[in-house]
Amino acid sequence: MQHNTELNIGLFGFGVVGEGIYQVLKGTPSLQASIKKVCIKHPDKKRDAPAELFTTNYDELIHDPEINLIVELIDDAVEAYKIVTTAFRAGKSVVSANKKMIAEHLPELIELQHQHNVSFLYEAAVCGSIPIIRNLEEYFDNDLLQNIYGIVNGSTNYILTKMDAGLNYSAALQEAKQKGFAESNPALDVEGWDATNKLTILLAHAHGIKTPPSAVLRQGITRLHEGDAAYAKEKGLKIKLVAQASKLSSGKVAAFVLPQFVTSDSQLFTVSNEYNGVIVETKLADKQFFYGKGAGRYPTSSAVISDISAFSYEYRYEYKKLKRNETAALTYAFYLHVFVSFPEWATVNKWDFEEVTEYHSTPGRQYLKGLISAEKLRAADWFHNESVSVIVQPEGIVEKEALVHKSIKKVSLQLAGVGL
Ligand code: HSE
Repeated sequence: MQHNTELNIGLFGFGVVGEGIYQVLKGTPSLQASIKKVCIKHPDKKRDAPAELFTTNYDELIHDPEINLIVELIDDAVEAYKIVTTAFRAGKSVVSANKKMIAEHLPELIELQHQHNVSFLYEAAVCGSIPIIRNLEEYFDNDLLQNIYGIVNGSTNYILTKMDAGLNYSAALQEAKQKGFAESNPALDVEGWDATNKLTILLAHAHGIKTPPSAVLRQGITRLHEGDAAYAKEKGLKIKLVAQASKLSSGKVAAFVLPQFVTSDSQLFTVSNEYNGVIVETKLADKQFFYGKGAGRYPTSSAVISDISAFSYEYRYEYKKLKRNETAALTYAFYLHVFVSFPEWATVNKWDFEEVTEYHSTPGRQYLKGLISAEKLRAADWFHNESVSVIVQPEGIVEKEALVHKSIKKVSLQLAGVGL
């Protein structure tokens, strides 16, 4: 397709972002694109657009020969998967923002787009308005990526920011919902799934790693305790939900989504509300920081519009790192400095730690700081216990090799007389 060929869009969904795209396209004449039909689920809902634009029959979009681009902005990941794969099979290219669907089916979606020679763009699926996928794909093509870490979920960052300012959790979550930041099932946000889905997509574009989201070490913000917040305040730290992918000296990648203590000299410290921020560290460029709104109607629409425009230039992700067969893979062979809080000593097995450097108690809550292998953390029953909160310390990752060289020995708490 030549640039400036008129794009006739079949739009799925008219929610927060779908309606945003409808409004924005009307005001973006430079992009010769218009929406021909919108497929929606509930025809009776009142919408601010002509009734003849809408249909509930998705074949009307997929099989309309005049529609040359499908823009999929629905909430339901199962339906979205059907729409996208049917569109590919009908030879239609797709722009989507459905991170859950993309993360769960990426290998198959990559295969299908090649088979049917179509383009599939989804910049809006990760970090809203921040062009992180295209940068990882194009700009960081050859410079060796070492670390990618950041705040990739707007809702949880909004909630943590508001709680820091004194609002309670449910009121903050309610606001995130009202402002259109949260998923319709906000458990996806607060339990860290949304961030994990986004990290899964980043892993493919940064390192050519195909992984199911479930393989990523994850904990959301629901377990954070007021005592954790008090500790952070006292130490001048902030708690942020951070998605991280770090290349280890083995060439393998440590990936996790966990709350982290962020120090005031980190760029992530100042990322507030629904903003996202991603730090990319490479061999040559050293450190770069991407910052922008990660959720909400217009920031997300800006990424969708950019994909529509990129499609008009025949842009496709080439999945360069996947094609290069780089041998990167995920690993749990690393250690993390963590801060753990829990109701009573019996909840957590201290012997899972390589060392415990500090512990203290407040009425009804116990706290320890220690070093633990990711493998053990992932397997520990207590890590999956609702009453246990785990926060990564600013020291973060220790590589297995470093640990062996330093010969860190397990530090027993027995001598200290703690009844673990
Ligand atoms: N629920 C998501 C978030 C929306 O809060 O980041 C944007 O992906």
